Amino acid sequence: MPETAADLSTMPPAVAITGLRFRWRANQPWVLDIPTFHLANGERLFLAGPSGSGKSTLLALIAGISRPAEGRVTVLGAELTTRSGPARDRFRADHLGVIFQLFNLLPYLSVSDNVTLPCRFSTRRRARAEAAAGSVAAEARRLLAHLGMDEPGLVRRPAAELSVGQQQRVAAARALIGGPDLIVADEPTSALDTDRRLDFVDLLRQECASVGAALLFVSHDRTLADRFDRVAELPALNRAPSAG
Ligand SMILES: Nc1ncnc2c1ncn2[C@@H]1O[C@H](COP(=O)(O)OP(=O)(O)OP(=O)(O)O)[C@@H](O)[C@H]1O
Ligand SMILES: [Mg+2]
Repeated sequence: MPETAADLSTMPPAVAITGLRFRWRANQPWVLDIPTFHLANGERLFLAGPSGSGKSTLLALIAGISRPAEGRVTVLGAELTTRSGPARDRFRADHLGVIFQLFNLLPYLSVSDNVTLPCRFSTRRRARAEAAAGSVAAEARRLLAHLGMDEPGLVRRPAAELSVGQQQRVAAARALIGGPDLIVADEPTSALDTDRRLDFVDLLRQECASVGAALLFVSHDRTLADRFDRVAELPALNRAPSAG
């Protein structure tokens, strides 16, 4: 981890994309056609765009879950496009915190086991969580409490028994544990009420700042946009399809 501003300035950008084209099936129109996209180290970007414009698809490419047909996706200096699926999975476990649009919690695991899952897959994340709070479980409790989830007994409950808003916050704690370098969050506030939305975004920003992580935040809620360094619009990132 860099300790000084000088170190930060020499680090590669969080995300650099060139000539990206992606479609889910051959012979169908491109879902994404992005000549360039850049997210600086530590930058907090609000990404908007209409439903179906490809926001979740773009996050899946940046997280290395999908691979583009054309172009380069470089995350924290690592070119993901040339790496195998298992190598991309390892990279994601070590360096990224992902809050999926549908959370992807494991329903029968407890809240605590869901939050600490990244530390089972990544020794780097485990070491960082232990350094932050003494143990992985203690760091999970700290993050959950920070997100307003400190009811007694809650950490032992299965994720399936939680409200949608609670599940969203468990997904956030899971993304944040072990100080990843980049957080990608897909509409993470959609199930929260207005006051909680603002609190949630502020907490996310605070946690990202404390470990120097960049934040790519997808949302339809433009009232949150002024809490970010920059706003981008997906159709504007997409090149218009060429005629014929
Ligand atoms: N797994 C998939 N298989 C095939 N097509 C898909 C798949 N996921 C998404 N698509 C298609 O890709 C396009 C972009 O979808 P995506 O989910 O990225 O949009 P989005 O901007 O995240 O929308 P929303 O705001 O509703 O979440 C849509 O036309 C969608 O139908
Ligand atoms: Mg989406």
